[in-house]
Amino acid sequence: MFLTGTMRINEKGHLEIGGCDTVELTRNFGTPLYVMDEELIRKNCREYTDTFSRLYPNSQVAYSGKAFLTMAMCRLVEEEGMALDVVSGGEIYTALKAGYPASKMIFHGNNKSAVDLEIALTSGVGRLVVDSFSELELIESIGSQVGKTAQIYLRVKPGIEAHTHHYIQTGQLDSKFGLGLADGHAMAFVKAALKLRHVELCGLHCHIGSQIFDLKPFQVASEVMMDFIQGIKKKTGLAIRELDLGGGFGIRYLREDSPHSLPAFIELIVTTIKEKAAEHGLTLPRLLVEPGRSIVGEAGTTLYTVGTIKEVPGIRKYVAVDGGMMDNIRTAMYEAKYEAIVANRALEEPVEKVSVAGKACESGDMLIWDIDLPKLVRGDILATFSTGAYHYSMASNYNRFTRPPVVFVSNGHAEIVVKRESYENLVINDVIPAHLQKRVERRAAN
Ligand code: LLP
Repeated sequence: MFLTGTMRINEKGHLEIGGCDTVELTRNFGTPLYVMDEELIRKNCREYTDTFSRLYPNSQVAYSGKAFLTMAMCRLVEEEGMALDVVSGGEIYTALKAGYPASKMIFHGNNKSAVDLEIALTSGVGRLVVDSFSELELIESIGSQVGKTAQIYLRVKPGIEAHTHHYIQTGQLDSKFGLGLADGHAMAFVKAALKLRHVELCGLHCHIGSQIFDLKPFQVASEVMMDFIQGIKKKTGLAIRELDLGGGFGIRYLREDSPHSLPAFIELIVTTIKEKAAEHGLTLPRLLVEPGRSIVGEAGTTLYTVGTIKEVPGIRKYVAVDGGMMDNIRTAMYEAKYEAIVANRALEEPVEKVSVAGKACESGDMLIWDIDLPKLVRGDILATFSTGAYHYSMASNYNRFTRPPVVFVSNGHAEIVVKRESYENLVINDVIPAHLQKRVERRAAN
């Protein structure tokens, strides 16, 4: 059985999360439904912040909002004392609306717009992670217009290929993100930044990829970045004071997945940074990390209602649920794999292999290929696990399906943090131009 956080099977044989019976949750909120275990999110936040404050007090954990960001999540992140990594004007807006302080935001993106940068500068976003020469120029010009100096990090490509799906690898030289060390661009950027008046280069940033189990690439990235800090000091005299190593720590999606413990991961990078600082005679930089998936991933469960069941004799049994690639694009996009159970008969043994299909008009709209489950019938509740990261945040309205609500569960209480989208929401931005409206008006007149 794949149970994490506060999950348990209750006396009715139902899956329970945060003290809430998931079958009851589906009665109250409908399906599909994203359920987030608030206690587990907080536990993960604390594991990061406590371990860092123990091993390397001059540090800051920044939650990476792209994994899952809502206004309630921003509140939780602030309560847990974490900074926030944002990647768009929309994420900045969400956080500001939630009362999250701009000064604790770190703004990423490989193609930030002038408007986004102006908002960031005028609202006092703490750090801008600059991704290119052209962005550097843009920031200098906006900074001079609005009379602000941007405190920036340079995003570096450390030249590391971490073992993960190639769509979520980012540290290698052939990547749209950041500037390379090998081609000299990163050093050229540092020299260019030093000449500007509205830019203060305070730190370096790198992010090698996501869902990484192997610790070695993190160690190598830490070494490479410290060597670069040393190189910068030698070549320009500039002392880099902050180092942000990004996110990427892998989580458990399948029973057989066994990520390293978080403290082991943190200990490794901290030790590496300290060793390298000693080797080069550098002052220890302020250290930042930006975990997303490892904070919220395992805390999320999606509940679906089983609908049509179709057997293709001798080939496969398709069990269709009332969601799909609209709430979980990861199977189609990264060939991601998931565990699932029947939430209303959680203690029953699996008896057959089925494949769980979504309801979108697309053959590739599958949630799980080949999973052993008890015999399912229409109306059963299927729970898929580890859906807290990059599910809600990547959800779409494909086929004009409405996006599911999100509830936080904790101590027997369930609170809506995102309402279910309505059909009205779907058409709210649609406009019928006058020339397409005439027939409707004529019909109404007759
Ligand atoms: N920092 C930066 C600059 C990033 O680009 C990312 C993720 C993170 C932090 C957080 O990484 P995490 O700790 O969550 O691995 N949609 C893909 C994942 C894309 C990750 C993008 N960047 C997926 O569903 O697997």
